[in-house]
Amino acid sequence: MIGQYLTEEHRECDEIYAKVEKAVSQENWEEAQKLFEEFADKTILHFRKEEEVLFPAFEEKTGITMGPTQVMRYEHAQARDLIDKMAQALKDKDKDTFLSAGESLMILIQQHNMKEEQILYPMTEQHLDPEEMVAKMSELK
Ligand SMILES: [Fe+2]
Ligand SMILES: [Fe+2]
Repeated sequence: MIGQYLTEEHRECDEIYAKVEKAVSQENWEEAQKLFEEFADKTILHFRKEEEVLFPAFEEKTGITMGPTQVMRYEHAQARDLIDKMAQALKDKDKDTFLSAGESLMILIQQHNMKEEQILYPMTEQHLDPEEMVAKMSELK
């Protein structure tokens, strides 16, 4: 349930990014800006659900604070930096910088998501109450 809920969000973000990439490639800047904002907002909200609800609950329950959750937090920070770089590139209508940062972000995110989906989410499901976790994550706006 935790895995399904968060994996669906991974897919949603991937789908929106594909649209962003297309709009930027076509230099359709207005559409690109709108879609990019949607992508960035959804991605950051997803990170917050993990950082503010799921990871602390997992750490508290298992006592594992220096393991996978720390790695995930570090990768979120790297992703945020790339998103900031992309926002600036979009402002500057700098297609090449945007697309190259976007490619780095997608590589980072695909590897990150795979680790969460295959390792971390199943671990959280073993230790936490899935319904409670999903309810708490859904409250974040
Ligand atoms: Fe994550
Ligand atoms: Fe995630």
